[in-house]
Amino acid sequence: MYEDLLPHTLPTETERLDAMGRAHDPDARAAIKRLCLPADATCLDIGSGRGTMAIWLAETMPGSTVVAGDLDHKSFKPNELPNLRLEEMDANTVDLGEAVYDLIHCRALLCFLPAKMAVLQRIKRALKPGGALVVTEMDFGRIAAGPNGFWSTFWTAYLEFADAQEWDFRFGARLPRLLAQAGFTDIDARHIAPILNVEGETAGAAEAKTWSLTLATLAPKLIEGGFLPEPMLRDALAMIRNPNSWTAGPGFMMVAARA
Ligand SMILES: C[S@@+](CC[C@H](N)C(=O)[O-])C[C@H]1O[C@@H](n2cnc3c(N)ncnc32)[C@H](O)[C@@H]1O
Repeated sequence: MYEDLLPHTLPTETERLDAMGRAHDPDARAAIKRLCLPADATCLDIGSGRGTMAIWLAETMPGSTVVAGDLDHKSFKPNELPNLRLEEMDANTVDLGEAVYDLIHCRALLCFLPAKMAVLQRIKRALKPGGALVVTEMDFGRIAAGPNGFWSTFWTAYLEFADAQEWDFRFGARLPRLLAQAGFTDIDARHIAPILNVEGETAGAAEAKTWSLTLATLAPKLIEGGFLPEPMLRDALAMIRNPNSWTAGPGFMMVAARA
């Protein structure tokens, strides 16, 4: 389970989630701005992690009500925002209610859950008519197909590791179609894949930092589980951490859609 392999008690977890936020928040925020939400919007961020999106929503829309839902809020950034509430919830089972939210955001969550379609249907039910979902999920199929032999072999092995955990890191590719099947409309889907380079304050640098920490954390499981030989992981980490290397990163599907 996600919480067993990447628990919030890891010493590097807040740093890793901050890097994930720096890599992906700008795209999610731009998608949310395009939706022109009402100033008093009711919003939910499921699997809120460090809370970078929930905090941004509450700060930029002081008239809104924002709920940050997660299994565990240990990594959540301290704040005193009066319009932000933390709720412990399991996305697998939580009843989100009916026609409650103007916006639901989630990122890097559904791919870890067994019953994704059921969760999407509960999300749709919880949105007000015309309310919006902004969702970003792993779409790693393309990186496993290239751009060179080493990188393809490395990410294929990583996907096999994910498959063994029952994590679906190709899920993003199916998201637009699944949202249509669940009855969403105005499906605005974008494949996002920052190029990894550790230098500067860029999405690619934040993404390189995220992968540097994620792979270092999972290294014992990847190696001892027989998914990757140690030298291959070392070479991949050296590429990701090399300031002179601009390497294709794994992709994500970001979708905004209306209920
Ligand atoms: C990869 S992190 C992503 C965090 C945040 N969405 C982001 O992109 O920065 C996944 C988050 O989902 C939470 N999570 C995992 N399984 C969950 C579940 N079944 N219900 C609610 N939250 C869950 C984890 O605790 C973690 O905070």
